[in-house]
Amino acid sequence: MSKFLNDNLKSLEAYTPGEQPRDKKYIKLNTNESPYPPSQAVIDAVNSQEVSDLRLYSDPLCKTLKEKLAARYDVNYENVFVSNGSDESLNFYFMAFCSKENPVVFPEISYGFYKVFADLYSISYTAIPLKPDFSIDVSDYIGIGKNIVIANPNAPTGIALPLSDIERIVASNPDNIVLIDEAYVDFGGESAVSLTKKYDNLLVVQTFSKSRSLAGARLGYAIGNAEIIADLEKIKYSTNPYNINRLTLVAGAAAIDSDDYFMENCHRIMETREFTVNELTKLGFTCIPSCTNFIFAKSDDISGNDLYLKLKDKGVLVRHFSSPAICEYNRITIGTQEEMETFIEKVKECLK
Ligand SMILES: Cc1ncc(COP(=O)(O)O)c(C=O)c1O
Repeated sequence: MSKFLNDNLKSLEAYTPGEQPRDKKYIKLNTNESPYPPSQAVIDAVNSQEVSDLRLYSDPLCKTLKEKLAARYDVNYENVFVSNGSDESLNFYFMAFCSKENPVVFPEISYGFYKVFADLYSISYTAIPLKPDFSIDVSDYIGIGKNIVIANPNAPTGIALPLSDIERIVASNPDNIVLIDEAYVDFGGESAVSLTKKYDNLLVVQTFSKSRSLAGARLGYAIGNAEIIADLEKIKYSTNPYNINRLTLVAGAAAIDSDDYFMENCHRIMETREFTVNELTKLGFTCIPSCTNFIFAKSDDISGNDLYLKLKDKGVLVRHFSSPAICEYNRITIGTQEEMETFIEKVKECLK
């Protein structure tokens, strides 16, 4: 740390992304990426003409992509915000709507970035504990009178709340913005996008990183009331008007055009998830019921950290979190069927 860093940032603990190792080739089940490549339409869209056009700035309106997203989700153009990964939508939500005076709450076990954003902007926040079975206690959020962020399905647990519960939370907090982070919704969750027409205090955030195989392109979006979206645009134009690069814009538009391909991949991943849960259960693991492209699992026969280290040694990377409440678990991204068969073989070796 330099002596120049602002005092309020000295104690900030930054987010730690999952490892992206370069030392050898791993079966990479640690950052919830898709095991499948983007569609051929996406690959064709990022062509040499688009690369030579990189000399020009990208469209700050993101018009074509926004129009396609609006049509895909049956909302209006003014209801869509496009961001550099969904992380940027989350970032702007915390920056725009939360503060010391406008506190925010989120589940204690959830996406680690919520706490980082709250700390970054010196926002008052409460991390609300989950129930012992790792589910969210909806009653904790009813009429709480604060801004609310909920990942649905939640991460790293994989558990989804039904839409009726989300609606009760949104309806009971009309003077605060409820952000529903739907990074994993395409793997079996129920989206709250339709509720954005009924409630002006709901912001739904999704990403191209998981179900649409574009993690490296950095593309996310938020859907909500036009006034909230205009506030997010104001933040964007006050930070980086060209937040989406040209290649990502065309890749994203092509991805929406090949929706069938991506949704089919999601189904394949869900089938492989069921296979993996069955196999892990046979080996004595406890698997939390997952509506995502990952499984949160623990074994009584090996500690979470030992399993993580042994698997890494055998060329399989999973995500281990050291916080005491979840350190016995590992979060295992669903890869291809073949990768998961190898994963199960390696787990058997680790248990020997
Ligand atoms: C719950 C959740 N939300 C948001 C994100 C951010 O995704 P991205 O910025 O790649 O869209 C992640 C990434 O892992 C996540 O797990």
